[in-house]
Amino acid sequence: MLDVERIRRDFPILEQGYIYLDSAASSLTPEPVVNKIVEFYHEYRANVERGVHRWSQRASEEYERAHEEVARFIGAPGAENVAMVKNTTEAINLVANALDWSKEDRVVTSVIEHHSNFITWLRVRQRYGVGLKVVRSSEEGVFDLGEWEKAVDDSTKLVAVTHVSNVLGCIVPVKEIAEIAHEHGALVLVDGAQGVPHIPVDVTDMGVDYLAFSGHKMLGPTGSGGLYIADQVLEETEPLCIGGGTIADVSIDDYALAVPPMRFEAGTPSIAQVIGLGEACRYLTRVGMKEVEAWDKRLANRLLDGLTELEGVEVYGPQDPEMRVGLATFNVDGMNPHDVALTLDEEYGIATRSGHHCALPLMKELFGLREGNVRASTYLYNTLEEVDRLVSAVEEISKG
Ligand SMILES: Cc1ncc(COP(=O)(O)O)c(C=O)c1O
Repeated sequence: MLDVERIRRDFPILEQGYIYLDSAASSLTPEPVVNKIVEFYHEYRANVERGVHRWSQRASEEYERAHEEVARFIGAPGAENVAMVKNTTEAINLVANALDWSKEDRVVTSVIEHHSNFITWLRVRQRYGVGLKVVRSSEEGVFDLGEWEKAVDDSTKLVAVTHVSNVLGCIVPVKEIAEIAHEHGALVLVDGAQGVPHIPVDVTDMGVDYLAFSGHKMLGPTGSGGLYIADQVLEETEPLCIGGGTIADVSIDDYALAVPPMRFEAGTPSIAQVIGLGEACRYLTRVGMKEVEAWDKRLANRLLDGLTELEGVEVYGPQDPEMRVGLATFNVDGMNPHDVALTLDEEYGIATRSGHHCALPLMKELFGLREGNVRASTYLYNTLEEVDRLVSAVEEISKG
């Protein structure tokens, strides 16, 4: 079992006594990752893949090692399969702009997606006249695979689906959805923003073509994220930007792209962020993703049990903690979610998030909520006592 007290020592920010339950928005960063970033600035602050001098050589080695570390962390065959980007949003936009769309194509996505994996496809529809099919789920975020079977056909070019909902916390059966998609020759993009930080992920086993994720939600620095690109689509995936660092050769009237992943990382990349993300993967690997997942389930259980017992509090998402990660959204009867979050911060020293969580289609279609709800999201550094503190604070607030 994960030693949470030992882990908390790596997060001196927690010594302030503030209870941080907003990791789904952005996680905290442990000292080994901070130190790795500082080491870059203190010891070998230089550009990558451009210089023969020793600092540039060291920076390039660390930068390349980070790609390998991230690839290993998600079960990708090699560093060439991981393009470093600044976040999940950029990774998804890269795919939307990479493919050669025509009017006959179709995208299939779901109603529980974050805007990053939704409006991107609305725009592809607007721009190229592509068909768009939105698969509905139950209020708990549970999908009937039969609905995916009905939605996906031979004209489907891409299925874009989240691994874990950032509102309902539910885990989506992406492997089964990928199988359905592949039977029809469609590509599969998984939004791993909330999955990769919490669940051991193996892209090969999942059978996906693309996996987008955010480093800043998995202990890495802000401005770090990745896009896994499977071998079979590496050649057909066009870079979002090209320029310095992305070419093998250029003449007056032609150019040849560099090998992946460099062809996807135009200009001077976010070197410190990438090196920091590599270190975050090393950190999570040392702790063990199975341990992270098990602790997450305990926190999810406690959160769900505690909140659902409260009178005048509505909790969203699946009732079964096995189907979710340590994230719960709720509303207090008669109260605006922003007021609840503000009271939690000001009077109880607890950070949560309130609003629609960038998932308006879900909020409107499933719950008819315009103001959204309050979200408490945990990570490996949270304790059961912190969850209890949240539950008793919400109880007090609900009693007025
Ligand atoms: C499921 C999901 N997808 C995409 C995103 C977008 O992530 P980012 O802001 O890092 O691009 C988020 C962020 O909260 C998310 O929860």
